[in-house]
Amino acid sequence: MKQVDITEAVLRKFPEWIVFVIAADAEGQANLMPAGWVSFCSGNPPMVSVAIHPHRHTHRLIEASGEFVIAWAGVGQQDLVKQTGSTSGRDGDKFEQFGLRKLPAAVVKAPLLDGCAMAFECKVAGQMVTGDHTVFAGRIVAAHVSDPEVDKIVNFGKERYVAAQIKG
Ligand SMILES: Cc1cc2nc3c(=O)[nH]c(=O)nc-3n(C[C@H](O)[C@H](O)[C@H](O)COP(=O)(O)O)c2cc1C
Repeated sequence: MKQVDITEAVLRKFPEWIVFVIAADAEGQANLMPAGWVSFCSGNPPMVSVAIHPHRHTHRLIEASGEFVIAWAGVGQQDLVKQTGSTSGRDGDKFEQFGLRKLPAAVVKAPLLDGCAMAFECKVAGQMVTGDHTVFAGRIVAAHVSDPEVDKIVNFGKERYVAAQIKG
């Protein structure tokens, strides 16, 4: 091992999963953004956490609603990751702009997104400011999987979004 600048070492963190974080306002107006900083953080009760920068429109929606959906991006959604990751819901409806099909969630107000590999509906159980992001820990209140099953995509860095062929 050799000691290096922290930034240089962090660049070796890839691959990482890509999820869409979907949230909605009180009127049901939904938004989505891709996120890589996501992790399961409790088994019982099942919980998942995601780090969101306070400038994101999604941050405002989660704080206001106390709910969000985490949906693993499926094969074929590579362009959508780029599109929804370079635009903000503050400036318009991304579901409309990119012709996305919403699917109804079972518990939360935010919708699911067609084409994702799996999705968890979450209620915020806690949040913590971590430097320049906020980690939202969500208690999973409902879960969905693609049927038929679709492969997930992983981020290898430098916008290389690759299919992870994990289904049998
Ligand atoms: C692959 C990828 C991963 C990203 N991961 C995160 C993340 O973990 N947290 C975050 O705050 N932003 C992340 N972003 C940036 C947001 O998706 C981006 O700023 C988005 O436009 C915010 O949309 P919004 O303003 O509609 O919420 C990521 C973007 C990409 C393309």
